[in-house]
Amino acid sequence: MAGRIRDEDVQAVRNALPIDAVVNDYVQLTNGGGVQLKGVCPFHDEKSASFYVHPSKGVFHCFGCGESGDSITFLMKIEHFSFAEAVERMAAQAGITLRYEEGGYSPRHQKGERTRLVEAHKIAAAWYQEQLETPEAEIGRTFLAERGFDAEAAKHFGVGYAPVGWEHLVRYLRGKGFSDKEILAGGLASQGQRGGLIDRFRGRLVWPIRDTTGEVIGFGARRLREDDNGPKYLNTPETPIYKKSNVLYGLDLAKKEIAKSGRAVVVEGYTDVMACHLAGVTSAVATCGTSFGEDHIKIIRRLLMDTSQYRGETVFTFDGDAAGQKAALRAFEDDQKFAARTSIAITPGGMDPCELRLAKGDDAVRELIENPVPLFEFALRSAVERHRVDTAEGRAAALEEGSKIITKIKDRSIQHEYAVQLAGLLGILDEQFVVRRISQLARWQRDNPPQQRQQLRRPGPPEPTATVRPLFRLDPKDPAQFVERELLKLALQHPDLVSPAFDNYGDEEFPTPPYTAVRRAVRQAGGAAYGATLPDFTTTVRDACPDDQVRSLVTELTVEPIRTRRAPDVIYAGEFLVKLRLQAVDRRVAEVRAQLQRLGNRGTPEQLTAVQGELWALQQYTQSLRTLGSAGL
Ligand code: GTP
Ligand code: MN
Repeated sequence: MAGRIRDEDVQAVRNALPIDAVVNDYVQLTNGGGVQLKGVCPFHDEKSASFYVHPSKGVFHCFGCGESGDSITFLMKIEHFSFAEAVERMAAQAGITLRYEEGGYSPRHQKGERTRLVEAHKIAAAWYQEQLETPEAEIGRTFLAERGFDAEAAKHFGVGYAPVGWEHLVRYLRGKGFSDKEILAGGLASQGQRGGLIDRFRGRLVWPIRDTTGEVIGFGARRLREDDNGPKYLNTPETPIYKKSNVLYGLDLAKKEIAKSGRAVVVEGYTDVMACHLAGVTSAVATCGTSFGEDHIKIIRRLLMDTSQYRGETVFTFDGDAAGQKAALRAFEDDQKFAARTSIAITPGGMDPCELRLAKGDDAVRELIENPVPLFEFALRSAVERHRVDTAEGRAAALEEGSKIITKIKDRSIQHEYAVQLAGLLGILDEQFVVRRISQLARWQRDNPPQQRQQLRRPGPPEPTATVRPLFRLDPKDPAQFVERELLKLALQHPDLVSPAFDNYGDEEFPTPPYTAVRRAVRQAGGAAYGATLPDFTTTVRDACPDDQVRSLVTELTVEPIRTRRAPDVIYAGEFLVKLRLQAVDRRVAEVRAQLQRLGNRGTPEQLTAVQGELWALQQYTQSLRTLGSAGL
């Protein structure tokens, strides 16, 4: 049991830190008329600011959800602190030493667990920083220097070095009075096989990860040596004080600028945050070893005071890799209001901001985020670019895909704006045709609401123009067709072996028309991941086929033996997943090359850079597929 904090000390803490200062770490407050301040309530989802703070009375109240209290209860609610933890955190910030009354059970007082873990992190961070000066850390200093970071930059971000060895930090922390239980609970060490504790980070550069108030709550650590078999980045695991879905690296340094400028910049890594800040983009943050999610959105929205009265903007930078872009597009599903104020800045040549700064200097980093493309427009362009719009079929497919994106936009006025834009992108002069198609789709979606998301996919709405499929002869000797065929057989016979990767493959990755049709039927039947949960997936796929021809091909592929001597397994499936993707990438490379040739010296520098950038990214992707196999997908 923790000893009781003396009442007069609690009062002193309350007096020392005004409530608006405490709240401001989480919520951007503006004048609420009169003496009050107001902001977006952090305790419920809302569109308008109904969260009020009364500084001289030291209280807050939300007219939306009814939460209210003083600065201590605010911290307890938002951080899930106990009373003592909240007071301890505030005391530390105000520089007040707390006195505890002797508790009934414990002879000497014990601070809350959180406070202890935060202290351990503070001490560890300082120690790591000292280690960066040692001869052993030369490799780390070189790494930093190669990325354009001098000693001063490292110091500004508190970058440190974790020495090679098993228990340097563990011993140091024990010497400072921390128990093994605390060291483990903080994720600073892990349990070794022989029972002892071993340092979590060994022979790595370490970045302290801070919460919004600047307290270190975890670390991100980068591999430096060839013989380190761990992942490139190793982060603190989930602990009582570190929840990765809830932290943004650099937020402590960026929050003022985000609130002031009304813009947040989200980059991908620790080095990118450093590069941006050093280049003058001081509103940059990054997620820590996880993708950008709902909780991150909430944190940023509160700082931007993202309400109807105030329009904040969030810029994501991407180095043009598909995974990153997918993550951005997911924001669509999560939070439309947020998505509408989100833009994408694609770095030239597939560089990340850190590389960009090295290659082109600080100005280039600043320019990068000056002219981002709105997320909806970006999504639309990506959808269109996946198709060959110089053919009628390509245009029809791009129209379908683009329309689906637009129907997801809930705001009618923006929807119309993007319908017009889609018409422009496709070179369709009859804008009304596009607008009509989109309302048709939207109506269909309203009338056929998804029953169980993802699980039961209904067949799509009728196509605007039925195309007659030309007769197509399959060629059993064609190696590219063989890959398509084998993968479809696997999806039908062993859907578990190919999911979840298979479902992320586009129809265009199965370019042989009969196989395109089968791939489509598999998708309409719910996809391979869904199929893996069924006793007889083929029946469902057969039901989803548009005609008897496709249906009989599905049957054929279901009974034809898989072409391997051993039993088909994930390795065999992975091989074909990679082969198919490589074929698709190769085709795209050929297209881009042709495009580059067409542009010749008529293209604008922007067009050329964009095309060259894509080519470069494709080559990188090919490279990683060849070296990593299915892990590189
Ligand atoms: P270099 O490419 O060597 O310059 O390193 P980098 O720091 O630029 O790393 P990279 O661009 O590959 O990664 C960007 C961010 O992704 C990192 O800061 C991490 O947050 C995250 N990341 C990359 N690799 C891993 C990994 O193996 N595990 C985890 N958890 N996160 C990773
Ligand atoms: Mn990087």
